[in-house]
Amino acid sequence: MKIVIIHGQNHKGSTCMIAQELADKIKDKAQGQSEIKEFFLPKDFDEPCLGCYTCFNNDLTKCPHYPKLEPLATGLIEADLIILESPVYVYHATGQMMSFLDHFGTWWIVHRPKAEMCSKQAVAISTAAGGGMKSTVKDMADSLEMWGVGKVYKYGVGVQAVNPKEIPKRILKKIHKKTDRLSDTVCRNAGKQKMNRRGKKWFHLMRFAHKHFPPMEPDYTYWENKGWHKKARPWKSER
Ligand SMILES: Cc1cc2nc3c(=O)[nH]c(=O)nc-3n(C[C@H](O)[C@H](O)[C@H](O)COP(=O)(O)O)c2cc1C
Repeated sequence: MKIVIIHGQNHKGSTCMIAQELADKIKDKAQGQSEIKEFFLPKDFDEPCLGCYTCFNNDLTKCPHYPKLEPLATGLIEADLIILESPVYVYHATGQMMSFLDHFGTWWIVHRPKAEMCSKQAVAISTAAGGGMKSTVKDMADSLEMWGVGKVYKYGVGVQAVNPKEIPKRILKKIHKKTDRLSDTVCRNAGKQKMNRRGKKWFHLMRFAHKHFPPMEPDYTYWENKGWHKKARPWKSER
């Protein structure tokens, strides 16, 4: 299984620890060869979206930041499992994680989704000292679901700590149990995914809009060329 982890921070704290623990367990349990690729933000990508609309009006590959973004974008496309992780910073994902995700607006179902996303699984992980895990996990899961990823798992945990060494033993035990169970689920469901329910709902809404309202380009032609205005569906295409 090909696994890519996007870390929402440069340091190896509690959130990074959980993401790596999960990936290692999946690597051990998965059938066939596995590979883990990791990117740290902002070390590996540090640009905020410029709001130039080049991606929407033309293509993401024409984004002024694409030369820096390309290895991460390719990592996402090639992976069977995407792990996005971020500590809670003032109730949300880190600024650098949000800036990174801003660059993939055109991958949302409502624009020009990538059919490859449908067969993937993903996990959004966050830790907080006490609160804000849910909104932080949602910050990342919103993109994963709206990219059309087949199945998105969410895991937020209050660690009552500012680094892994401080995490109380009973919470650590809970974390290990969760990564055990989640790794089993991911391995069991490998290769069985289509598109998540939220993504499918938006696919059908957009298909209706394309047919009944003036065409928005280049999105309309992209869908037309894929056959999505007819019978073809992204979750039925080959990887
Ligand atoms: C700038 C900043 C903002 C934070 N905001 C919150 C918060 O809103 N709620 C919370 O419970 N903890 C908050 N924390 C604490 C961290 O989320 C928590 O310690 C987390 O487990 C750190 O993860 P890490 O070890 O992966 O960096 C914040 C920490 C920082 C540095």
